[in-house]
Amino acid sequence: MHIPTLATILSTSALVASSPLYRRAAAVDELVGYAAGTTGGGSGDGTTVSSCSELTAAAKKGGVIKVKGTLKGCGIVKLTSNTSVLGVGSDAGIEEGGLQIKKVENVIVRNLKFHKSPEGKDLIDIDNSSKVWIDHNDFSNVGITGDKDFYDGLLDAKHGADSLTFSWNKFHDHWKSSLVGHSDSNAAEDTGKLHVTYHHNHWTNVNSRLPSIRFGTAHIYSSCYVDNGVSGINSRMGAQVLVEATEFKGTKRAIVTDLDSKEDGFAVERDNIFDDASKPEITQKGSLEVEYKYTVDAAAGVCAIVEKSAGVGVVTF
Ligand SMILES: *[C@@H]1O[C@H](CO)[C@@H](O)[C@H](O)[C@H]1NC(C)=O
Ligand SMILES: *[C@@H]1O[C@H](CO)[C@@H](O)[C@H](O)[C@H]1NC(C)=O
Repeated sequence: MHIPTLATILSTSALVASSPLYRRAAAVDELVGYAAGTTGGGSGDGTTVSSCSELTAAAKKGGVIKVKGTLKGCGIVKLTSNTSVLGVGSDAGIEEGGLQIKKVENVIVRNLKFHKSPEGKDLIDIDNSSKVWIDHNDFSNVGITGDKDFYDGLLDAKHGADSLTFSWNKFHDHWKSSLVGHSDSNAAEDTGKLHVTYHHNHWTNVNSRLPSIRFGTAHIYSSCYVDNGVSGINSRMGAQVLVEATEFKGTKRAIVTDLDSKEDGFAVERDNIFDDASKPEITQKGSLEVEYKYTVDAAAGVCAIVEKSAGVGVVTF
């Protein structure tokens, strides 16, 4: 259910004329959507790590893990249940490495700059896990160049993963961004799962999968898409997608339901802005409405809001 508040209406109309920046209606530090209730490692001070060996050791125990500085070459670090991985200040990150969230639940990852996954791997890979909140991170590889499959995804969710919220992240400079459901033949494991909320994300210079979703359910709102080459939101294999209050610029097939898969997906789009280069291609109108409460920022102005308030250094630890 979505009821625009008075504050939403005032903030999105009153400021347009007087300021190049729009006032935000949505809270910047709040968990909203399908991952609601995720608590990660709780509220303690936890362990601060500043090397790969410290990170790997802390990840085995779980709880709150604070990352200081950029950790380089850690490889893929596997997280356990009940864990929060939080970047300290505005320059914490993981380079030439990634996180695997597999067969666990209740995990939070915030305020980290992820850059360059190991060959053939994802920066964050969520497999058969539930309650995962990925918030205020920056994801990139080296651009749309070289072998399309050298790096894998930026943020992927597969094998019946469920109850996920991906908010206030920046995704940029890569071939394949975010894959939800990896195969047309995985209906048995994925049907009824793969519920994801994507909100206030910024996507630029990515070739495709922004996201791609098979079988699952995605609610995408108040996001900004700029200059993405081949396809935007790709709903396939009967997936249900609701896209609203989002601005698309220079993003071909901004919302598409009949690309590549054996069966089309479904999509509902409302209150979005598309420029001439960004057109939706929806073959099947969907039926998705969500039951949780959320506050949208209107499409007009959302790009300024997410440019400023998504990514790292906004919510710091
Ligand atoms: C995670 O925390 C919950 C609640 O405290 C607990 O029931 C569960 O056993 C924990 N899971 C693991 C794998 O430690
Ligand atoms: C992993 O998959 C199995 C089989 O579908 C399911 O019963 C289990 O709940 C899943 N675990 C998590 C943490 O998602």
